[in-house]
Amino acid sequence: ELKIVIIGAGSSYTPELIEGLINRAAELPLRELWMVDIEEGREKMAIIANLARRMLNKAGLSVTVHETLNRREALAGADYVCSQFRAGCLNARISDERISLKYGMIGQETNGLGGFANACRTIPIALEIAREMETLCPDAWLLNFTNPSGMVTEAILRHSSIKAVGLCNVPVIMQKGVSQLLGNSADFIMQVAGLNHFIFARQILQNGKDKLHDVIDEILAGNDPLVPRNIPPFSWPAHVLKGLGMIPCAYLRYYYMKDDILKQEIGEAGGEGTRGEVVKALEHQLFEIYKNPDLAEKPKALEGRGGQYYSEAACELMSAIHNDKRIIMHVNTRNNGAINGLPDDCAVEVSSVITRSGPLPLNVAAFPEDTLRLLQLMKNFEQLTIEAAITGDRHTAWRALVLNPLITSGTLLEEALAEVLEENKALMPSF
Ligand code: NAD
Ligand code: G6P
Ligand code: MN
Ligand code: MN
Repeated sequence: ELKIVIIGAGSSYTPELIEGLINRAAELPLRELWMVDIEEGREKMAIIANLARRMLNKAGLSVTVHETLNRREALAGADYVCSQFRAGCLNARISDERISLKYGMIGQETNGLGGFANACRTIPIALEIAREMETLCPDAWLLNFTNPSGMVTEAILRHSSIKAVGLCNVPVIMQKGVSQLLGNSADFIMQVAGLNHFIFARQILQNGKDKLHDVIDEILAGNDPLVPRNIPPFSWPAHVLKGLGMIPCAYLRYYYMKDDILKQEIGEAGGEGTRGEVVKALEHQLFEIYKNPDLAEKPKALEGRGGQYYSEAACELMSAIHNDKRIIMHVNTRNNGAINGLPDDCAVEVSSVITRSGPLPLNVAAFPEDTLRLLQLMKNFEQLTIEAAITGDRHTAWRALVLNPLITSGTLLEEALAEVLEENKALMPSF
């Protein structure tokens, strides 16, 4: 029987995770659930823990739900650890968004200057957790959704010996969207490859045929269910999808339609607010709903969040590892040659066969040279960012930042970076 730990349990997404565990009670025999948060999230965690208890009770499962601020106590003897914390909480996200916009850059949680700042806050904590796991639960699997998920996973794979897999709901949403476009079929294989929030669907196999181009036609006909809720609806220019011959995930819009999205973000920031601000309001509503002592299920309102369906990935991944299912899932893991042209030992987000021994990434057809160059550039950005987050070296930070196509350079960058470092003084290594 399993001991599962959730770090950042005060997340409004947690009820989805609980629902996923309940739905899989037969495959994942759960004994104890340990919820971990920090002082700032204590109250949210208490609301979540009580809702979780009601949900588990209703499902007739006798699982003990513990709440603690003591991470080590939770990690001792754990089997699976789900990491879903937000370093600096929502206020740090909003600060990243606002500073970026102030200096004329896209303001986003995982991309551009915001992604860099988020990584610098998060990676030192993620590595602390990994180090604790090395001694307290060396056999446990770490399932990481903590953003920036790709960089966090790469940092852990590179700097610790624990078993770790990184996750994102974007490929899950793409898989569901493609299924819808194929007439609600479950009988197809989608292969994705790239980096987290930088993936492409490369093949959609059904009945011996590649349906990728049929799916592209559907998308171009105005039917695009592949976009998560946090990214405003948009259409790809026809030549982009046809010319690429791949389906870029919605996050690639930040790179392929940079100015369009910046204009949109500036409009939103002056209106309903940045995404972080919108999420803050949404989260407030969600917790009001969660508090209701009669509620014993995941409320519909959670679907307003961009991370919807990630329990699908999390719980299914746990079960696939635990039961050696050998099914294909899309995860962040060591490249090992899957993407030609990226280092074997770097983290990539690729369709993989999930086994008890870990994910086995599937080889993917060579990327066109120009797309490969972008992937290499972004991997280089990620690796320099990780180095900066660990060492606090200002020049390394600069090298990372000037490489990123969403980030400006020169005086503007120096000023923006100074402001980011000032705002995050208590949350980052000292640069
Ligand atoms: P949130 O702001 O609600 O944060 C979740 C909890 O983390 C909070 O209760 C907070 O108090 C806690 N926390 C902060 N620092 C902590 C620390 N050092 N140790 C333990 N807990 C800590 O965030 P959210 O919007 O629910 O998202 C949670 C995380 O999951 C974020 O990193 C988000 O980016 C990520 N996420 C990822 C995906 C994905 O596709 N990988 C999907 C959804 C959310
Ligand atoms: C999903 C991403 C997550 C991200 C979330 C943001 O698309 O995969 O990594 O955390 O959106 O959603 P939010 O509701 O917080 O803006
Ligand atoms: Mn994601
Ligand atoms: Mn640049």
